[in-house]
Amino acid sequence: MSRFKHECGERILCVGHVCVDIVSECSTYPQEDDKVGTTTKSNRCIDQRWQRGGNAANNCTVLGALGAHPSFCGTVAASHEKSFILEDFAKYGINTDNVVVHENCDCPVSCVILSAATGSRTIIHSNKNLPELTANDFAKVDLNDFGWVHFEGRNVSNVCNMIRHVREFNKKHPERKPLTISVEIEKAKPELEALIPLPDVLFVAKDYAKFKGYSNMDETIETVQSLALPGAMIICPWGEVGASASSTKGTIVHSPAYPPSKVIDTLGAGDTFNAATIFALCKGCTLEEGISFGCKVAGAKVGVRGWEPLREVVKHTIPLVSSADETADLLHRT
Ligand code: ADP
Ligand code: FRU
Repeated sequence: MSRFKHECGERILCVGHVCVDIVSECSTYPQEDDKVGTTTKSNRCIDQRWQRGGNAANNCTVLGALGAHPSFCGTVAASHEKSFILEDFAKYGINTDNVVVHENCDCPVSCVILSAATGSRTIIHSNKNLPELTANDFAKVDLNDFGWVHFEGRNVSNVCNMIRHVREFNKKHPERKPLTISVEIEKAKPELEALIPLPDVLFVAKDYAKFKGYSNMDETIETVQSLALPGAMIICPWGEVGASASSTKGTIVHSPAYPPSKVIDTLGAGDTFNAATIFALCKGCTLEEGISFGCKVAGAKVGVRGWEPLREVVKHTIPLVSSADETADLLHRT
């Protein structure tokens, strides 16, 4: 029997991708055929680092920094980057029991350019041959350990089956609080539409919204809501504009963005927003409180370099405002 049975109400499992991000922070975005160095005059490489990346992996990082004990479920190549990835998960208190390791393949890598001049993050991602997680892999996860499962929108047919599996688990276990299912659709890929009707909580990123031709958050929410599960929450973050959300009750709530004094690193801003919003909803916050917390944590993230400083920043600057905060310290259970 699971260690967490009946005590794991809000433990969060994030299902999706992990990769290595090689991040170069430049004073301005380089010209084609430029050579940018540490001491070059016209444009300078301010910092360069390796980070663990990938949407679901970043969600876990933020949940870990907020003091939750998240779990990551996804595939990892048995390449020389594997120990970097697994050690970095451990650093943030992220459980990796549900990682599936594949031999004879390469680790996916993103080359990322951050522009200090504009705050942009340009991502060039390559995933040559790492297999995706299968529904059979996912069926081995002990869902008793969790209260919430978040899926990154990718690997669509498998993820549809995984969601079906979680729904069946909920039906078979009426004695426990049903697992909440959330999905993020982010990438400009038409097949992601199949995921819209499935979750209880749907995050729609502005990249997907723009790809569909929606011009703002409200238009995105209204259009997507008509395709979603009745009663589902639809949440849409939109960079410097902040975020909006609605449930089928129809009212759209909004949060402004909380810009830092200087925007340093917007890589993973959306992943941060999603994770922090999930954290707040788990704690019993309302949808409005949830997206406001998401924007505050994401605003703090874009003001710091990489992930490491986020832990300190959130500890000191962001009280989680919730009517249920006093009583629902659920994520800290071990
Ligand atoms: P993505 O990483 O998917 O492009 P967004 O750009 O939509 O994500 O940003 C997600 C959230 O991060 C926004 O809702 C906002 O709260 C915060 N955010 C992003 N960029 C900024 C910024 N320049 N200033 C303040 N907050 C920001
Ligand atoms: C940011 C991110 C990066 C990764 C890329 C993968 O949202 O997860 O960490 O390189 O997107 O698409």
